[in-house]
Amino acid sequence: MNDWQQLCIHVPAEAVEVVSEALENAGALSVTYQDGADQPLFEPAPGETPLWRETRVIGLFPGTDDLRAVIHAVEQALGRPVSWETRPLAERDWTLAWTEHVHPMRFGDDLWVVPEGRQPPAEAGTVVHLTPGLAFGTGTHPTTALCLEWLARHRERLRGARVVDYGCGSGILAIAAALLGAERVWAIDIDPQALTATAANAEANHVGDRIHPQPPSTPLSDEGAHILLANILANPLMELAPRIAALLTPKGDAILSGLLASQAEEVGEIYRAHGFAIVDREIQEGWVRLDLRRE
Ligand SMILES: C[S@@+](CC[C@H](N)C(=O)[O-])C[C@H]1O[C@@H](n2cnc3c(N)ncnc32)[C@H](O)[C@@H]1O
Repeated sequence: MNDWQQLCIHVPAEAVEVVSEALENAGALSVTYQDGADQPLFEPAPGETPLWRETRVIGLFPGTDDLRAVIHAVEQALGRPVSWETRPLAERDWTLAWTEHVHPMRFGDDLWVVPEGRQPPAEAGTVVHLTPGLAFGTGTHPTTALCLEWLARHRERLRGARVVDYGCGSGILAIAAALLGAERVWAIDIDPQALTATAANAEANHVGDRIHPQPPSTPLSDEGAHILLANILANPLMELAPRIAALLTPKGDAILSGLLASQAEEVGEIYRAHGFAIVDREIQEGWVRLDLRRE
């Protein structure tokens, strides 16, 4: 069996490129990134890799040799010492690596998200099976969890509803809505990778016929949606207020996530100005979900 090791280097976002290049030059077989300190995502443009304010840049190296020479090369390239750690790894299927860390998760009484390769518990009722691919949305991030909690607690409203998942990522929210009874779900994203991931995940969950992945420029049908979920970030959510208002039927629900507690007031004000009332809000780990209703 081959042995491998990961070298994880903690850096601020602006140093990521230099460190990645130094790791590649020093013989890393792959270089990947992880959130270093549970920080908000910097929203990536289509095709870009998301970067966090503090990022763990991870180089994969064969063997078990001491990596001090590699660390030295990284520090030379950066011009200062870095904080690092190594992790030994046995050979395995890298594409399934995330499933080893993510266990089936429950939202509300009985909505489950189960990563590819894992089994749901025998008693699980509504189960979303998920392979996120390159798209955001595994259910582990509080902003996604807040939306899944809302969906799990509003089965009655979802039954037969038309729903929009604005910023669908992996399609996790769209699929949960369809499995909980939505008749039709438009899954919108600016990133083509997200639309591909959503279509594949929808098929795998046998709801491909009710989920319609599409870019923001494609119009929806004229009827409008009863419910819209958007887990994006405060700035795009504020810009999108008129569009979100136009997509909903009167009395429609807009469920907004991806806001920091300090931003919720400002976002709420903008939506009030576009004809929404604030019905509720929920907070998890400093992130806020705003529940709005179109008047
Ligand atoms: C934080 S992820 C949310 C993914 C998933 N809905 C979830 O809850 O986990 C935000 C997604 O919104 C997309 N996005 C960002 N700005 C957007 C915009 N203006 N219009 C549509 N999609 C956008 C990104 O490409 C990304 O896939």
